[in-house]
Amino acid sequence: MDKNKTYELLLKQVESLIEGEDNSVGQLANAAAILHETMGWWWTGFYMVKNDELQLGPFQGPVACYRIKRGRGVCGTAWDQDRTIVVPDVEQFPGHIACSSMSRSEIVVPLHDCQGAVAGVLDIDSKELATFDDVDAHWLEQVCRVIERHVGLSTQ
Ligand code: SME
Repeated sequence: MDKNKTYELLLKQVESLIEGEDNSVGQLANAAAILHETMGWWWTGFYMVKNDELQLGPFQGPVACYRIKRGRGVCGTAWDQDRTIVVPDVEQFPGHIACSSMSRSEIVVPLHDCQGAVAGVLDIDSKELATFDDVDAHWLEQVCRVIERHVGLSTQ
């Protein structure tokens, strides 16, 4: 199936999975699960802002590091700069944090609270080089907008 069509469907599935719930851990866990299962990525999950650092949230895939400082790695940079970062080759990203030596490419998309502050990030890793492009960035940003609408996000 065309990547745009797959994401269009996925966006609707994410929304119907998480709407009407008030358990944010469960909602993020199910969002990670449907993204991961559908797309076959290596690692799919969330890091959430807490005590001025990113802390590991719900995810699917191999074990990962618990904490990331602001400005560190791809996740900490996406948080600090409040923008989506597409990394075609993680070895070319200065300061990349290798939770898994199998990761080759990565995308990180910020999530915001209702005041517009970054409340966390959606982080996705692939075992192949250059898995993610502008199409992925566009749709994963839409996924994050849906999550922001339905999940109670706060920076603590
Ligand atoms: N590679 C990330 C760290 C998190 S793991 O990919 C799950 C980074 O550089 O921020």
